[in-house]
Amino acid sequence: MIRINENYTKLKASYLFADIARRVSTYVAAHPDKSVIRLGIGDVTEPLPPACIAALHAATDEMADRATFKGYGPEQGYTFLREAVARHDYAARGCKIEPDEIFISDGSKCDCGNIQEIFATDIRLAIPDPVYPVYVDTNVMAGRTGMNVDGRYEGVLYLDSTPANGYVPAVPSAPADLIYLCFPNNPTGAVATREQLAAWVAYAKQNRAVILFDSAYESYIRDPAIPHSIYEIEGARDVAIEFRSFSKTAGFTGTRCAYTVVPKTVLAWDGAGQAHPLHALWNRRHTTKFNGVAYPIQKAAAAVFTEAGRSQTRALTDFYLENAALIRQAMTGLGFTCAGGDNAPYIWINVKRDSWEFFDLLLNRAQVVCTPGAGFGKCGEGHVRISAFNSRANVENALERIAAALQ
Ligand code: MLT
Repeated sequence: MIRINENYTKLKASYLFADIARRVSTYVAAHPDKSVIRLGIGDVTEPLPPACIAALHAATDEMADRATFKGYGPEQGYTFLREAVARHDYAARGCKIEPDEIFISDGSKCDCGNIQEIFATDIRLAIPDPVYPVYVDTNVMAGRTGMNVDGRYEGVLYLDSTPANGYVPAVPSAPADLIYLCFPNNPTGAVATREQLAAWVAYAKQNRAVILFDSAYESYIRDPAIPHSIYEIEGARDVAIEFRSFSKTAGFTGTRCAYTVVPKTVLAWDGAGQAHPLHALWNRRHTTKFNGVAYPIQKAAAAVFTEAGRSQTRALTDFYLENAALIRQAMTGLGFTCAGGDNAPYIWINVKRDSWEFFDLLLNRAQVVCTPGAGFGKCGEGHVRISAFNSRANVENALERIAAALQ
């Protein structure tokens, strides 16, 4: 008799953003005359930068010609893209990352979800709360947690991110083996200082732990004192894996390109105490289960690093940050305390009431979709997240509707 992976039964029935999409569809079906503005899931709205489009067209033409046609590429990504990433995203910031430590993929969501496969199932996890739900859910699927009791999975060390700590959790006194960190943070928009990240690197070294650092939103950092990469911290090469994406940097949510950095110096141990470089394990996993990102997409991603690409992507992130500033200003004006929005495309709003109730209120009275904080964890309750990813007209319209709805 075939049996299921019973860990799946510990999960909430649906993924947070699928749940929201379903509620919005139900509302739209019942109110076909209303126009809904979506500031929920962080999905970009502006077209790809012209430099990326030109590269995409040129690479597509190469695929039409026998002399330049490409079949399977290297699973880890083409050298031209890995070298561009190493040079522009790392060497330019003083980080020593080699091109062959960079694994090109089709998304950070997949990589964050898949990476846990290379670790033992009986390790201790430290996961922030609130948090991007993929980190928790994928570990639940793998059997690394107990049951969900009162909104929290047994066996997980939750790192509370609250107004009291500015939504940046301090290192815990208890030990952990695998630590998830995301800065600029999704959902709170908070950023971590050099000192805060250095404390996490020291904690990881002390506990022989590994940090999984999600920096998908680093291109939104405008404060020059804030690190863009965990590798800007001394010693991080020995204890951290980093995830980056072209999705929010260059509008690739529908185009799909990201990368994961696994330095050859990051180790983890087997049951007999023998150390293993995680680079070899991830390389084995990646080459076995993934066949690479399409050549034209990698060419488009590489165009992000050209002079034109850099100025166009900067203009794109500036545009969304201007939306974020408008949202933060309007919500503050309505009397709410807000975090994020200055070095991140998300505004985290302390609404001081049930977050699904506030979600329903905005949907029903303003036809605006936000994300209820409770969907990101217990500490997210009492908050909602508003995403800055939309057109200027939609953001302005949404803010007018919210103000009217809350009067
Ligand atoms: C979000 O809204 O949190 C993100 O868009 C989700 C994602 O990047 O998968």
